[in-house]
Amino acid sequence: MIYLDNAATSWPKPESVYQAMEHCMRHAGANPGRGGHRMALDAGRILFECRDTLADLFHIEDPNQIAFMLNATDALNTALFGFLNPGDHVVTTGMEHNALARPLRCLERMGIKLTVVPADPYGEVAVGDLEAACTGGTKLMAVSHASNVTGTVLPIEKIGQISRKKGIAFLLDAAQTAGVEDIDVDLQGIDLLAFTGHKSLLGPQGTGGLWVRENITLKPLRWGGTGSNSESDLMPDIMPDKLESGTPNTVGIAGLNAGLRFILEKGLANIRLQENELRQKLWTGLAAIPGVIRYGSDNPEHKTGVVSFNIKGLDSGKVSYLLDRRFAIATRAGLHCAPWAHNSIGTLATGTVRASIGCFNTAEEIDLLLEAVRNITDTEGSSS
Ligand SMILES: Cc1ncc(COP(=O)(O)O)c(C=O)c1O
Repeated sequence: MIYLDNAATSWPKPESVYQAMEHCMRHAGANPGRGGHRMALDAGRILFECRDTLADLFHIEDPNQIAFMLNATDALNTALFGFLNPGDHVVTTGMEHNALARPLRCLERMGIKLTVVPADPYGEVAVGDLEAACTGGTKLMAVSHASNVTGTVLPIEKIGQISRKKGIAFLLDAAQTAGVEDIDVDLQGIDLLAFTGHKSLLGPQGTGGLWVRENITLKPLRWGGTGSNSESDLMPDIMPDKLESGTPNTVGIAGLNAGLRFILEKGLANIRLQENELRQKLWTGLAAIPGVIRYGSDNPEHKTGVVSFNIKGLDSGKVSYLLDRRFAIATRAGLHCAPWAHNSIGTLATGTVRASIGCFNTAEEIDLLLEAVRNITDTEGSSS
C-alpha cells in the first residue's frame, strides 16, 4: 500500500510509537493521578512527560496549561463553547473544516455573531480582509493554520499581530500543521491552540490537546472526576484538571509522546523540507498530465503536503477508488469535511481527490502515483 492520506491520519507511525503504546499497556496501564501505587505513578509520569514535550514543540512556558483532548475537534469545541457567550462576535475564514464551522454555526444559533471572511478561488484569505472584519466588539479570531483541502498555510504571525493590536483573542486550529510548521505561541500571538495527535504529530487516534493562555478562563465542556480536589462536587479551577474530566487516554498519550520525540529528533525543518519537495514533485507532475485539474495557488511557498486534484469528466470518488483498487494507492475523495473550503474553490458539487504526503513517503511513491493518474486519464478520462 502506498499511503497518501496523511492529512486524515498519518500512517505508518515511527516504530517507537508502537513500542511505547505496548509498553504502557503492559507495564504502566494503571489510572494516572488517581492512586499512589507505583503503576499509577508511572502512568502519571507518561502524561507529565508528554505535556512537557508538547510544551517544547510549541514553545509553551507552562505545560500545565495544556489539556489533553480526544482530537482537534474536541479541543476546538472546548475552546469555543468555553470562551464565547451570546452577543460575542467571532471572525473566521471561508476555508475552515467542519470541526470549526459546525460549532461556530451552532453557537451562532445560540446568539454569537459570526463573520466568515471569504477566501479567493485559490483558497487564499487576505489578512487585510480579516483585519477589516474585526469590529469594536470582536472577541475572537478563529482560523486554521492550513487548509486540509488546498494545503494553503495562513500567515498566522500577522494574524496574531492584529489580534494583539485590537485586543482580540486568537484561536488557532493547528490540526494540519502541528508537527510540520513552526508553532510558537508567544511569537505568533496565539491565545488558544487546538491540535490533534494522530496526523503530523505521529501519535495514535484519540489524542490531541488544547493549550490555553494563562489570562484566559474557559468554562469546561465536561464535568467529572479529576483525581484532584475530590472533597468538592465542583470542578477544580486549575489547569489542566479543569478541562480533563475522566480517565485520560494514557496509552495513546504514551504513543503521542514517542511521536513527538521522533519529530524533535528528526527536526521540524527537515520534515517540512522533505514533504515540500515531494509536494512540489506531485504538483508539477500532475500539471503535465492532460485532463488533470489542480486546486490551490501555484505558489509553492506556504503549503503543506496536501494536493487536491480532479480528472476532467471523472468523479473524484471513482478516481480514488481506482487508485486504491488498481494501484494500491490510498487517497481521499469528496469534501474532506470542509464544505466551506470547497465552496471557496468551486468544488462543492464535485469534491476533489486529495493526496496528502507524510514524513515516510518517498519520491518513488510520488512517481507511482503520477503513473497511476496518467493510466486512469488514458483509460477512463474524457479524452480517452
Ligand atoms: C483543518 C482541520 N481542523 C480540524 C480537523 C479535525 O481533526 P480531528 O478529526 O483530529 O478532530 C481536521 C481533520 O482533518 C482538519 O483538517
